[in-house]
Amino acid sequence: MRNSSLPPRDVEPALQTPRLVLRPMHEADIDATVSALGDFEVSRHLARVPHPYTEHDARVFLKIVERGRAEGAMVHFMIVPRTERTPIGAIGLHQDMQSRRAEVGYWIAREHWGRGYAREALAEVVRYAFFARASTSNIPTINILEAKALETNRASIRVLEACGFLDVGAVDCASLATGTTSPARQFELRAE
Ligand SMILES: CC(C)(COP(=O)(O)OP(=O)(O)OC[C@H]1O[C@@H](n2cnc3c(N)ncnc32)[C@H](O)[C@@H]1OP(=O)(O)O)[C@@H](O)C(=O)NCCC(=O)NCCS
Repeated sequence: MRNSSLPPRDVEPALQTPRLVLRPMHEADIDATVSALGDFEVSRHLARVPHPYTEHDARVFLKIVERGRAEGAMVHFMIVPRTERTPIGAIGLHQDMQSRRAEVGYWIAREHWGRGYAREALAEVVRYAFFARASTSNIPTINILEAKALETNRASIRVLEACGFLDVGAVDCASLATGTTSPARQFELRAE
């Protein structure tokens, strides 16, 4: 529900899950981001991450995040284990302010794959997007979350399905890292 008496957020709140803190990106996260996204096994599954991935790319991205947050169209969290300071991944939403849809994207550094971190982070961001975000700002409510996963990205498809997303059809998905467009699946989750 939209609350017009509240301003847009300058900074996202930190979210907590049993093992993780999801918090805004800072300059101090650039090294960990460059290291993780510099891995072609990560970037080749993502639409907007070039390969090689440089510190300049991460700094430009941080500016995009800050601008998107100020405009209300973007929410971005670093994924950090509760017991540590260095992020192991990131998860974000791009919101279309007219359609009340938002696209979700995420990555986990390869050395941390297979421990349920993406599923845990996505489940919390779903809760935040549908139930918590609009009640504390004047940003329009999100009604539908969308995601695209390459057909070959079984781990991401598994994460989406585990969080309740439904496969709604075939799409093509471009990757800056590979410079190719490949068959992908479109997923959706609707607010109840
Ligand atoms: C996709 C990604 C975020 C998953 O992160 P993760 O923390 O390892 O994910 P989780 O551990 O929460 O869950 C992975 C699930 O996929 C399953 N899985 C992993 N590899 C798999 C494979 N090759 N085939 C089928 N299932 C696979 C795991 O068993 C697990 O399912 P389960 O919980 O039912 O056992 C990570 O692999 C990544 O960053 N990949 C590169 C970037 C990317 O693909 N981002 C998403 C773009 S749509």
